[in-house]
Amino acid sequence: MSTATENRGQFGSKLGFILSAAGSAVGLGNIWKFPGKAYNCGGGAFLVIYILMVALIGTTVMLAEFTLGRKTQKNAIASFRELNAKWSWAGGLGVLTGFIILCYYCQVGGWTIKYIVGYITESATIYADPMNYFLTMLGANGFPLQGAIIYPLIFLLLTAFIISRGVAEGIEKMSKVLMPLLFILLIGLMIRACTLPGADVGLKYMLTFDASTINGNAFLVALGQAFFSLSLGMGVMITYASYLSKDDNLVSNTGIICVLDTCVALFAGFMIIPAVFATGIAPGMGGGFAFATLAGVFQAIPGGTIFGLLFYFLLFFAAVTSSTSILEGTVAFLTEEKGWERKKTLVIVSIVLFIIGIFYTFSQAGFMDIKGIWVSKNGVEFPIFGDFLEYLTDRLLLPLGAFFTTVFVGWVWGVDNAVKEATSDGKFSFALAPLWKVLLKIVAPICIIVIIIAGMVLGMSIS
Ligand code: PFF
Repeated sequence: MSTATENRGQFGSKLGFILSAAGSAVGLGNIWKFPGKAYNCGGGAFLVIYILMVALIGTTVMLAEFTLGRKTQKNAIASFRELNAKWSWAGGLGVLTGFIILCYYCQVGGWTIKYIVGYITESATIYADPMNYFLTMLGANGFPLQGAIIYPLIFLLLTAFIISRGVAEGIEKMSKVLMPLLFILLIGLMIRACTLPGADVGLKYMLTFDASTINGNAFLVALGQAFFSLSLGMGVMITYASYLSKDDNLVSNTGIICVLDTCVALFAGFMIIPAVFATGIAPGMGGGFAFATLAGVFQAIPGGTIFGLLFYFLLFFAAVTSSTSILEGTVAFLTEEKGWERKKTLVIVSIVLFIIGIFYTFSQAGFMDIKGIWVSKNGVEFPIFGDFLEYLTDRLLLPLGAFFTTVFVGWVWGVDNAVKEATSDGKFSFALAPLWKVLLKIVAPICIIVIIIAGMVLGMSIS
């Protein structure tokens, strides 16, 4: 092993890697985004499409990213470059996507801290008017000092602090504690929500396959959500796998992480939607779904304030383990590619993304007069700096990043080389290798590109 490789550190244990990668995958995407999308895109039918997307395309791309990272032991850009110098831009695209995501991710992560504090100190105010509480945080009634600046800054500083301690010290230690806790909390809340009187309507909605709700848009939403949720298409899993050794079984790790991540999304869906139906509260969209809407839910259930507090702790944990992974991708690139010093990199990156992120929150509610710059197409509107960032990443950049990864690993580096890496040169068995080859070379790239183009033609619905 070279000195350079040793300096990068490695995960201290196999479990450490699984929990860290699962910690990256499980995040706001599962709990803040997924239930809203499942609700808006047809409930049960969306679940089927989503699971198909994860099983066929998500697992395929994840294994491809793992093989790239471990083979080269490098950050995303250097991984591509090492195997083919003409392809380093593909890794660069991923780092850029991760950076854009982090701009708004830290904002929403900050809101989780605001809600933790809110449930401890002023639950009565939240319950009195949940929507008003949420919008006030965003700036509807004045400058959004807390929602856009103070709490997102705390969240970002925490993320940067963890990253400054390095992989084994920071990410791994934290994930070992937080991930199991997160699972336990989530299952408990899901059981609580599903046993509420009236929850059966929501359960039925989530379990009924209504084919009439399926359209091209549902496929695009499911694909973008799958990539976002599994942290694919932006080099994060390449970077994480670069810290692995040949003793790690990439194939089984892929299966475990995809199953864990999908379970958490489903738990969140089966927690939020039945509870929303049970309490008769109309589900909101996007940010409002997990914040304003759920406040009403917690108010309506016995012991709700405690459940509310637990829930926002959970969301916060999930968000931190994901934001650290994105920041690590950007930092690994700048330190290893550009030779920047790690602490200096952290400070500069944090400042830039924080400033951009502020405008995300500004544009989510009435603080900025955004009427003049709202875009309307096919009856769907979104504020340019808010949902547009999500549109850009989920609908375009992530699928494109995944597309280029499949083409690169399947055709440029070569699928046989990738299978060799996936099995650690034949050390581990991989019965599904023939299927993976077809998925990687043909099915995944074609599906991804068709869905991206269909999405462009169909319009701009972001739900
Ligand atoms: N997978 C994370 C989630 O579902 O919240 C989000 C995420 C993590 C996106 C890492 C991108 C990334 F690089």
